[in-house]
Amino acid sequence: MAASSVTAGAVGKPHIVVIGNEKGGSGKSTTAMHLIAGLMQAGLDVGSIDLDAGQGTLSRYVENRKQYNAANGLRLKVPEHRRLESSKLDSVHEAMVIDGSRLEACIDELGAAHAYIVIDTPGSDTAMSRHAHSRADTLVTPLNDSYVDLDLLASVDPDTGRVRHPSRYAEMVWGQKKARALRDGGSIDWIVMRNRLGTLESRNQKAMERSITELSRRIGFRLAPGFSERVVFREMFLKGLTLLDLREPGAVSKMNMSHVAARQEVRQLLGTIGLPMAE
Ligand SMILES: Nc1ncnc2c1ncn2[C@@H]1O[C@H](COP(=O)(O)OP(=O)(O)O)[C@@H](O)[C@H]1O
Ligand SMILES: [Mg+2]
Repeated sequence: MAASSVTAGAVGKPHIVVIGNEKGGSGKSTTAMHLIAGLMQAGLDVGSIDLDAGQGTLSRYVENRKQYNAANGLRLKVPEHRRLESSKLDSVHEAMVIDGSRLEACIDELGAAHAYIVIDTPGSDTAMSRHAHSRADTLVTPLNDSYVDLDLLASVDPDTGRVRHPSRYAEMVWGQKKARALRDGGSIDWIVMRNRLGTLESRNQKAMERSITELSRRIGFRLAPGFSERVVFREMFLKGLTLLDLREPGAVSKMNMSHVAARQEVRQLLGTIGLPMAE
């Protein structure tokens, strides 16, 4: 499938990118940070929402960035950020209604000022996260290169490596695609990216590639090249920086080969989504 071209949403109708996967530690927050950084570097206005209030990784990153600015007299761009906690309601139906409307209010508010909204979600199935999925124009699912992680997308035959049937998370996404189509006739462009890829291609990596390519046809997502396992994807978190900030005044070390390669990986992800990135 060809990469769709995403145009900047007019103010009031933002383009919403949701980062989702019901597995913790798959790289959702890392991907969110780098997407936000890429969009801001392209000169775009970005709002961000953290639905994983428990871990709060994205919120911490934004806080760190503000503090880094303040401590160093810098003016690095910071997304307008919100952190939404799920209500503690027992009734699933009530939670869907209340959390859904709280998220809508937050999207309305950010969407009035920003053309892009990036939403980071928790590694669990919550009413708020479901609702966010149904609001996605683009859904990005990072996936560790492991059958343990692939298992949330599909059941795979151990002997042949072939896909038997889609599983929980994929079914949830299907449900939200339907909800989206019913609500406004819109569609969700679902992109799966492999994360923390080893630089040496292993037998497991090739087998994963076959399974995931077959799965992409069966359940309807596009594949992005993904991120390799690189220290540069996490080393600047405490300063609220990403590898895209290395050319900014006052920012840490010099560019090395790993930064250049990682930058290219972020660029490819933005390209696959159809989002612009600064040269
Ligand atoms: N491509 C990568 N290279 C190196 N470390 C990574 C990469 N992606 C994620 N990590 C690390 O893996 C851990 C989990 O990532 P995180 O983005 O917090 O996942 P999630 O939000 O899905 O729980 C973090 O320690 C993060 O720094
Ligand atoms: Mg996270």
